[in-house]
Amino acid sequence: MALTAGVSRSLREVLKNRSAAGLCFSASYRRLSTAEAAPKPAAKHVPQSQENRKPKTGILMLNMGGPEKLDDVHEFLFRLFMDRDLMTLPVQNKLGPFIAKRRTPKIQEQYSKIGGGSPIKKWTTLQGEGMVRLLDDMCPETAPHKFYIGFRYVHPLTESAIEQMERDGIERAVAFTQYPQYSCSTTGSSLNAIYRYYSSRGESPKMQWSVIDRWPTHPLLIECFTQHILSELEKFPPEKRDDVVILFSAHSLPMSVVNRGDPYPQEVGATVQRVMERLQHCNPYRLVWQSKVGPMPWLGPRTDEVIKGLCQRGKKNILLVPIAFTSDHIETLHELDIEYSQVLGEECGVENIRRAESLNGNPLFFKALADLVRSHLQSNEPCSRQLTLSCPMCVNPTCGQTKEFFTSQKL
Ligand code: FES
Repeated sequence: MALTAGVSRSLREVLKNRSAAGLCFSASYRRLSTAEAAPKPAAKHVPQSQENRKPKTGILMLNMGGPEKLDDVHEFLFRLFMDRDLMTLPVQNKLGPFIAKRRTPKIQEQYSKIGGGSPIKKWTTLQGEGMVRLLDDMCPETAPHKFYIGFRYVHPLTESAIEQMERDGIERAVAFTQYPQYSCSTTGSSLNAIYRYYSSRGESPKMQWSVIDRWPTHPLLIECFTQHILSELEKFPPEKRDDVVILFSAHSLPMSVVNRGDPYPQEVGATVQRVMERLQHCNPYRLVWQSKVGPMPWLGPRTDEVIKGLCQRGKKNILLVPIAFTSDHIETLHELDIEYSQVLGEECGVENIRRAESLNGNPLFFKALADLVRSHLQSNEPCSRQLTLSCPMCVNPTCGQTKEFFTSQKL
């Protein structure tokens, strides 16, 4: 009872402060009003579109990508199961294609339930446009800036984006991971692809490369998550709001990856910790892990099992927060929204289950991306110190070569 009253008071304070003064940023940040944060109209502030001017700085937005239409699903899965930076399978060149083919119909069915394809390219394009518009104003010395999309498993592929950047005559290239938390199987795989692009051609880049390899606690990222959680909490019935358990859900990893020293679980935990501090610990929460596949052990607890366990213990008001992806994708739109919120939720008898919106088109998120690039360019550092350390149990020789590629760039 006392705890509930405390939570209630705390949340009320957070919400009151929010509406009265805006969510003030820590130290060097302040909250933008909607007008300030919104991307500025292109016609007024950008005389030429990014297609018809000679760019100086290229920002390569790295992500895994997703099939835009059902016909692309097989190709997406094929590339994914053949990626040895993501997973190593016995006789991968035979087993990979076999698994890709076998899984295609099931994954196509899932995509057909979320509109026939992944929205990740749409959101990344919007985010890239918002980011470079702000950057041109914020950093005239490195302008014009142009963003490129480098997906790992679907078009536009990382390799084609690099070719385009070289053709455009970019001077300064920033590989910018769109995964806030670093894993060797996601960001690491994309960075290895950049290294392999040059090494397989026996070429040196004409551009100077550097990398934004992680940003799990960037203040504006934390602010975006906080905003989205608060606005979703407000949609619960007022009398239930204090009972809501916040479940931060991230894509899981095989324990073999975790145990070789991958930094991802710790970095996801860091994001969660900062968000909860920003929320003044208004509700109880857990970090849970979704999307396990195959028979091998993966990092838990599993999102679906936690929902079940909470309901069995009478905690039937749940807010799901996707914390490791910034745009909607199949794991939010199908797994969280359909499999867990609709099907599982009904089976377990939840009272209210909701999902915080992905960051998608939030103008404050564009500002976060621009701020990350601005401070990275100004730092003149090729990468974070953390990237220089390989996993203690890494057995992939490309990881070391990739790190050498980035750290040896002359900026
Ligand atoms: S697997 Fe982590 S550095 Fe190679």
